[in-house]
Amino acid sequence: MSQPASFGVLTVSDRATRGEYEDRGGPAIREYLERVVKSEWSDVSRLVTDDVPEIVSALRELCETCCVVITTGGTGPAARDVTPEATEQVCEKMMPGFGEAMRAVSLLKVPTAILSRQTAGICGHSLVINLPGSPKAIAECLDAVFAAVPYCVDLIG
Ligand code: MTE
Repeated sequence: MSQPASFGVLTVSDRATRGEYEDRGGPAIREYLERVVKSEWSDVSRLVTDDVPEIVSALRELCETCCVVITTGGTGPAARDVTPEATEQVCEKMMPGFGEAMRAVSLLKVPTAILSRQTAGICGHSLVINLPGSPKAIAECLDAVFAAVPYCVDLIG
């Protein structure tokens, strides 16, 4: 990444939005970036409910300024889990390898990793990556794909 990177962090959770519990996924993503990104970077964070129009609108807004947008939550099989659908709606090109790699690595740690439909895609000049809502999934998943992120950002920039 030649220019200072800007990361969008999007937490998707009905319960965190209602204040029923604290958002731990968003902070876990920022902690990961602090540890791993060595060049200058900034971040913009948003918290939305598990609702396709809300997620789509937040993704579009974040993709206007961020080269990478990382979501957490809403990737499972429950009726309200719709983050992958919203991601597909905003992305003109899907990057299925990200989801495949994250699930493969996660499955070595937890059998329930198969329940995540997490994906990734390109929205304009931004790479959108879905992560599960579990805070401990953040580093496990990002470790599996992060080496490819700067090159992907260069290719779409
Ligand atoms: N992946 C990792 N690495 N670690 C986890 O703890 N949790 C799984 C799965 N993927 C998990 C994981 C579980 S229990 C679910 S239900 C799905 O992610 C979907 O989670 P989400 O709906 O919060 O995104």
